[in-house]
Amino acid sequence: MNSEALLEVKNLKTWFFTRRGIVKAVNGVDFALRRGECLCLVGESGCGKSVTALSLLRLFDSPPGKIVEGEIIYQGIDLARCPIGHLRQIRGKDIAMVFQNAQSALNPIFTIGDQIIEQINTHLDLNREQALEKARMLLDKMRIPEVDRALTQYPHQMSGGMKQRAMIAMSLSCDPCILIADEPTTAVDVTIRAQIMNILQELKRNRDMSIIFITHDLSLVREIGDRAAVIYGGRIVEIAPVERILNKPAHPYTRGLISCLPDVSSESKRLPSIEGNTPNPMDMPSGCPFHPRCNRVMDVCRSVLPELMNILDVHAVACHLHPNLGK
Ligand SMILES: Nc1ncnc2c1ncn2[C@@H]1O[C@H](COP(=O)(O)OP(=O)(O)OP(=O)(O)O)[C@@H](O)[C@H]1O
Ligand SMILES: [Mg+2]
Repeated sequence: MNSEALLEVKNLKTWFFTRRGIVKAVNGVDFALRRGECLCLVGESGCGKSVTALSLLRLFDSPPGKIVEGEIIYQGIDLARCPIGHLRQIRGKDIAMVFQNAQSALNPIFTIGDQIIEQINTHLDLNREQALEKARMLLDKMRIPEVDRALTQYPHQMSGGMKQRAMIAMSLSCDPCILIADEPTTAVDVTIRAQIMNILQELKRNRDMSIIFITHDLSLVREIGDRAAVIYGGRIVEIAPVERILNKPAHPYTRGLISCLPDVSSESKRLPSIEGNTPNPMDMPSGCPFHPRCNRVMDVCRSVLPELMNILDVHAVACHLHPNLGK
């Protein structure tokens, strides 16, 4: 992995303007993705992981969603603002996405084969035979049994694990340099989960692909991540190499998440959890969004939003407990 940034996200804000109010789902996200790295986005349900991922390709529901601020720089172009035609060329070809819900991402009225071929034909200049051969090879790589049969199946005829792998195959069909995988293993059993994790690891190793891997499961982060970004209330609160996040977490929220990892040696039957609930994105607390749940809360936390600041070259934290840093 080298340190060159392939994609840079700066102060990204994606809000949903609903009848009930403004949902500030992504509310100032900053990160850079390097070539060949796997960056994990971690956080509890509803903290803005999927909306961050969807924003990178402007795939969120719009309306009501809108990028109200920020930049997404890829090859010198701001994907947050570029013409939609340019974005369509990038989607699937340069940057591909495995959606959190394979069922709704696949089209129910086309076979898996036709959907992969369609994806290939949108971006590559191959005839039907060549595209079919490529589809066959991709499904085979995903360790889908009876590839020729799978190509003729409709999504509803496949198991959840098969659909998930078919979607990964489709996302890889144009050799993207960035793969966004949104919880790609949630709906699958442990064997398939291990297979998917192996496939992603191979892609990173052999193809130098950059991966944004979204999960709420820190054990998967340990398995595949180079760096991890912890997201809370639509903002990144800590970002560092995985080793450091797991062994020297600086933000109280990250510490809380890590303390919730099941300890196999523990005799306690109670699973630990972080007290309190995730903030309502329609009514964010003032100051630091984590302050109502934080066991180290100070006065300043209730009124001032902490900026993400470096505490080391490779480690940044948004927390008032680190007041002298970055000043
Ligand atoms: N189309 C939409 N309209 C209104 N609000 C939305 C929409 N999509 C997402 N949201 C809201 O944005 C917030 C962030 O959602 P997001 O899907 O990014 O969470 P997440 O971190 O991916 O959670 P999970 O782990 O459950 O997948 C949530 O409060 C969600 O309800
Ligand atoms: Mg999600």
